[in-house]
Amino acid sequence: MTILGIDVGGSGIKGALVNVETGEMLTKRFRLPTPKPRTPEAMSDVIAEIVEHFDYKGKVGCGFPTIIKKGICKSPGNLDPSWLGVNVEELLEKKTGLDFTVINDADAAGYATMNYGIGKGKQGLVVMITIGTGLGSGAFFNGKLIPNFELGQIPYKKYKKIELWAAGSAKDREDLSYAKWGKRFNTFLRYVELIISPDLIILGGGASKDFDQFKNKIKIETPVIAAELRNHAGIIGAAAATLHKAPKV
Ligand code: BGC
Repeated sequence: MTILGIDVGGSGIKGALVNVETGEMLTKRFRLPTPKPRTPEAMSDVIAEIVEHFDYKGKVGCGFPTIIKKGICKSPGNLDPSWLGVNVEELLEKKTGLDFTVINDADAAGYATMNYGIGKGKQGLVVMITIGTGLGSGAFFNGKLIPNFELGQIPYKKYKKIELWAAGSAKDREDLSYAKWGKRFNTFLRYVELIISPDLIILGGGASKDFDQFKNKIKIETPVIAAELRNHAGIIGAAAATLHKAPKV
């Protein structure tokens, strides 16, 4: 079955058609920049443009960079505060006339990795960390998603949340080398290890493709590997999430 998967990020919104049986991407990724400010009106227009680009009519799966419960944004993360309380599924359904399943973006990326990628069959507590505008986390226990883990929200020194200091966007903003930023990321992983004792950490998002450049800075006990689906995991997992949408009541 072919499903349109959309991965909404703080800097780009990306889509592709996905074969949800195999987890393969069937088209090239189409990306548009995330508008600023990142408001519901402006962002939903861009999401609708992505749907139009594919001239697509079926169900759509969407990974969204905030806490999402039953389609509703429960904390706006790095987006405009006006997202708080918005029913994202309903908004996108109104905009496009299509049936949307919306889940947290890191949960979506983890979902792809655990079902079609390097995490397949991995038992225990596996955490997917996505490195981008924020630090996303998708947690799986014996392969089952525990939704909306928000490990990037741990307060750190003067920062309200550690992602402001250790995400990919901090590396870009402060023009840090991988060696410098890698140390920060290791500090973040040390907290993750201390708080939840995972069995495996899988890295995704933009910086994961450069894992070789900061691998030597990662000094925690938990094994850390990079997802081979890399930046595509968010799109693939979002598409796959449509298979598990609870019926509307
Ligand atoms: C949000 C998370 C999201 C992550 C990655 C954070 O700011 O709180 O929900 O998964 O960014 O986009």
